Amino acid sequence: MKVSKICCIGAGYVGGPTCSVIAHKCPDIQVTVVDLSEQRVKEWNSDRLPIYEPGLAEIVVGSRGKNLHFSTDIASAIRGADIIFISVNTPTKTYGHGKNKAADLKFVEAAARNIAETVETGFKIVVEKSTVPVKAAESIATILKAIKRPGVTYQVLSNPEFLAEGSAISDLLSPDRILIGGEKSEDGARAMETLASVYGHWVDREKILTVSSWSSELSKLAANAFLAQRISSINSFSAICERTGADVNEVAKAVGTDSRIGPKFLQASIGFGGSCFQKDILNLVYICEELNLDEVAAYWKNVVDINDYQKQRFTKKIVDTLFNTIAGKKICILGFAFKKDTGDTRESAAIYVAKQLLDEGAKLSIYDPKVTREQIFMDLEHPFISGDDPARVAKLVTVDTDPYAAAEGSHALVVCTEWDEFRGYDYPRIYSSMEKPAFVFDGRRILDHDAMMKIGFHVETIGKKLYNGAPQNGYHTQPSESF
Ligand code: UDX
Ligand code: UDX
Repeated sequence: MKVSKICCIGAGYVGGPTCSVIAHKCPDIQVTVVDLSEQRVKEWNSDRLPIYEPGLAEIVVGSRGKNLHFSTDIASAIRGADIIFISVNTPTKTYGHGKNKAADLKFVEAAARNIAETVETGFKIVVEKSTVPVKAAESIATILKAIKRPGVTYQVLSNPEFLAEGSAISDLLSPDRILIGGEKSEDGARAMETLASVYGHWVDREKILTVSSWSSELSKLAANAFLAQRISSINSFSAICERTGADVNEVAKAVGTDSRIGPKFLQASIGFGGSCFQKDILNLVYICEELNLDEVAAYWKNVVDINDYQKQRFTKKIVDTLFNTIAGKKICILGFAFKKDTGDTRESAAIYVAKQLLDEGAKLSIYDPKVTREQIFMDLEHPFISGDDPARVAKLVTVDTDPYAAAEGSHALVVCTEWDEFRGYDYPRIYSSMEKPAFVFDGRRILDHDAMMKIGFHVETIGKKLYNGAPQNGYHTQPSESF
C-alpha cells in the first residue's frame, strides 16, 4: 500500500519531533500533526516552537508549509490520512482504580473514538505511538470495530517511540531499532509492511523489527524499566560510596568496561526524572499486580523507591550540611529541567529538591537556561503533587535569567541539572559574591571539585566523599575519619 498522507494526533514531545523527521525524510508524504490545544498548534506554526530540541527548529522550518502541517482541524486530517498515529499523553492515573500507578488511557480512548466517528470510508492504519499497557492495541481495535461506519476497515499497530529528550532528533534520524507490533494475520503483516516502508525512507530494513502487538507494547515498558533500573542501581552504590570513601564514577567505569554490562546509563545523579521512567515503571508494577505477580511488582517498585530515596538523601545532605537550619537562607538552584538540553521539567528531581527546601523555609533563587519562570512557578505550586501555597512560593522564590545574579548573596549553590554551561562559570567571582562559608552541592558531578575547594567552597557531591580541608572554616574532615 502506498502511503501519501499521515496524520498524528498529539503535537507533544513525541508527536511533534517524530512527525517532523518523517516529513523531512519522506518528501512524498504529506504529514499533518493535529492537537486539541490551539496554543500548541500556534506555537508549532511560529518561530518559537513549543519544545526545545537541538536540531528540531531547522527540520521544522525546512518542511513546514511544504509537506509538514500543524493544525487543529483534527477531523480533516483524520479523514485524509492513510496512517493515523495516536501520540497523546498517557499520564499516571490520579483517581479511581489504579490511582497513582496505572496509565490513564482516557486520551488514547478519546482519540480512538474520534477516529471511528470521523472516518467515512476506506482502509486506515492506526498506530499507537503513546506508551500504553499491554493489550491497549486490542482495546483500540475493539473501540474502532464497535463504532466504525460500514465499509471502513482498520488495522491497529503498536510502534513505540524510544527517543530521549535532548537528543530526540539524532535518535529519530539514527534509531537503534524501529519496533512495529501488529496482528498475526495477512492484513496485520501488510499493515506492518506499510508502516515499515515509511521508516524505510531512512532506516535500514534489518533495524526494523516486526513482532506481535503485545510484545511491542511490553518491550517499550521493559526498555524503560531496564534503563531506569541501571540508574537506581548506580545510585544505590553512590550511597555506599559516600559512606566508605569509594568513588562511584570509578566504580561505574570499572563495571561499565565489562562488555556484557556496557558504560551507558551509569551516571550517578540526584535521581532520574522525565515523563517516562517513573510513569512507565508504576504502570508496569500495576500490570504485575493485576496479573497476581506480586514478587515481580515488588522488584520493579524498588527501582522507583531507590529513586525517591536518592532525591531525599541529597536534600537531607543540603540541610544537614548547612548546620541543620536553612530557614531564611538564600539557596541558589542551578538547573530545573529534568536533564540538560531540554526545557522539560516533568518529574524533574529539581522540583522535589526545591519543594523540600521551601518546606524548611529557605529562600530560593533558581536559574535554568531553558525553563521559563512561569513553568517553574507552575511546578512549585502544582496542587496534585503537594504544591505549595502560591503566595508563599511568590514570597520565597525568585527566578533569575542571569546565573551570577542568582548566586549573589546565597549560602549554597545546588546543581540539579547537568547543563554544560555550568562547568564554565567564573567561580571565583561567584564565590566572592556569596555568603561565607559558601557551599556547593553538585547533584550531577559536573564541576571540578578540587578547583572549587581551592577557591574556598565547601563542596558536597553524589557518590564521593570530599575532604573539604579549609581549616579556617572550622568544618575540616580528616580522610582517616571515614574509614
Ligand atoms: C508521549 C507519549 O505519548 C506518552 O505515552 C509517553 O509516555 C511520553 O511521550 P508526550 O508527547 O510527551 O507523550 O506528551 P505531551 O507533550 O503532553 O503531548 C501530548 C499532546 O497531545 C498535547 O499537546 C495535547 O494537547 C495533545 N492531546 C491530548 C490531544 O491533541 N488530544 C487529546 O485528546 C489529548
Ligand atoms: C527516556 C528513554 O531514554 C527513552 O528511550 C524513552 O523513549 C523515554 O524515556 P528521557 O526521559 O527523555 O528518555 O531521557 P533519558 O536520557 O533517558 O533520562 C531520563 C532521566 O535519567 C534524566 O533525569 C537523566 O538525567 C537521568 N539519568 C540518565 C541519570 O540520572 N543517569 C544516567 O546515567 C542517565
